[in-house]
Amino acid sequence: MKNNFAGPPIMKEEVETAIKKMKHGKDNISVELIEALEDFGIGKVTHLLNEIYDSGEIPTDLSKSIFIALPKKPGATECELHRTISLMSQITKILLKIIMLRIRNKIKPEIAEEQCGFVEDKGTSNAIYILRTLIERALEAQKDVYLCFIDYTKAFDRVRHNEIITQLKQLNIDGKDLRIIKTMYWEQTAAMRIENKTSTFQDIKRGVRQGCVLSPDLFSLYIPSSETGVDLDALDEKLSSLQTAHRSNQKRDRFWAVVYLVTVFSNPTGLIYAPDKCKQLVKLARKHNVLLVIDDVYNLMWFPPSDPTSHCPIAPARVRAFDKSTDPDFGAGHVVSVGTFSKYLSPGIRLGWLETSDKLIAKLTLSGLAASGGSFNHYMSKLITWALKFGLVDQHLAKLRIEYKRRMDKMCDVLENHLPKGFKFVRPQGGFYLWLEFPKNVDTFEFAQFSAERYGIIFIPGVLASPTDGCYNCARLSISGINEAKIETGIKEFCMAYKDYCMM
Ligand SMILES: Cc1ncc(COP(=O)(O)O)c(C=O)c1O
Repeated sequence: MKNNFAGPPIMKEEVETAIKKMKHGKDNISVELIEALEDFGIGKVTHLLNEIYDSGEIPTDLSKSIFIALPKKPGATECELHRTISLMSQITKILLKIIMLRIRNKIKPEIAEEQCGFVEDKGTSNAIYILRTLIERALEAQKDVYLCFIDYTKAFDRVRHNEIITQLKQLNIDGKDLRIIKTMYWEQTAAMRIENKTSTFQDIKRGVRQGCVLSPDLFSLYIPSSETGVDLDALDEKLSSLQTAHRSNQKRDRFWAVVYLVTVFSNPTGLIYAPDKCKQLVKLARKHNVLLVIDDVYNLMWFPPSDPTSHCPIAPARVRAFDKSTDPDFGAGHVVSVGTFSKYLSPGIRLGWLETSDKLIAKLTLSGLAASGGSFNHYMSKLITWALKFGLVDQHLAKLRIEYKRRMDKMCDVLENHLPKGFKFVRPQGGFYLWLEFPKNVDTFEFAQFSAERYGIIFIPGVLASPTDGCYNCARLSISGINEAKIETGIKEFCMAYKDYCMM
């Protein structure tokens, strides 16, 4: 968390502004009372809020809400036909309003220009106006207009708390602000009140908080991260801020940081960076004087085209291909491509290779590790050198590509035929991994335990592949260690396990 729970103390002015912006509600301590006590009241509340803010501990009463169900139509009996309003302490509302005002500027840039809901100074009427204008123009030009309405059922209630925290961390929200949001979300309890009878308080594990001023902002932020690899703007920003912090220690001709990426058939997502993205990465590395270490461990494992007469290039571009020595800003080169025989021959041989510029190779061979000669496996190196010379490695690779393509095709076919709706995956064009996105409300960590215990099916749940507890609804499936027949039975059972899990 940022700066070990950093965050400026709450000021009296922030409390005053929050109170002014609040709708007055009923509570044992009303906002009117605090306002009436003027400086004394504001001072007391500021003191209390700072105690909560510094300790990160919220008194139980303040994390409780009571939901009241209002029927949407007279005589409604089903849950769906009710709208809930939420009653909570005024002190909690003031605190959340302050946090909302603090983080709003960081959340704003993440919200698309077109979004009209949950955005200040915009609303449904703006969206309707835009739509009417578009329709009028289309009518004038005698063109067809197609409208698509998507209604996300219970969208607010399906938001995963972990995912919100991941998004907030990526926005570099102050540690103490993040801690308050986390506590409010993890420790919230709520009871239903119907006709003056109140139920017992229950933990709420999912959804944005009912009636909380932060909810619209957090809901707007709740978007999946990029499916095309690392976010280049975020990387640019991160490198800029880190570089400022490290400037005093830097020598001009030295790389001050290393960026490690798997850009072809990545582990765990199987994704490939597009050529343009590779080009941009090299540009960024040159701009910030950092070294890109690209783990090209899977790039040779592309699958042969289904049509053998096809002449399409199938081996994806490597980042290294865009670090051209003829470029005026090439310098000493900014990319090291790392290869390994682990995936093509056997992990046990512990042999790999590096590919980079002449200047960097010269530096690397002078390193103590290389010069001492003691760190390399010379026997195995010689053996593989001859296997390469005789074309044995190429022959073996050609066989593997056919075998792995068969396995991957089988896995994708079975998934397509046996998974219920709501899943997403991209058919990998090489490598060992398939990244499966479950419906948003599924926690794959929980499902992984279920499928292992009940069906003996093991896969890697997404959270284990995320540094920020994200990807909770994703899974990595692998084809490397099992043959086609076992993949067929295993994936069928995996799909059955899921259906079974949903029935629980
Ligand atoms: C991205 C990546 N790099 C490196 C390795 C391991 O390579 P080696 O066995 O040569 O250490 C793996 C193996 O799982 C991998 O997925």
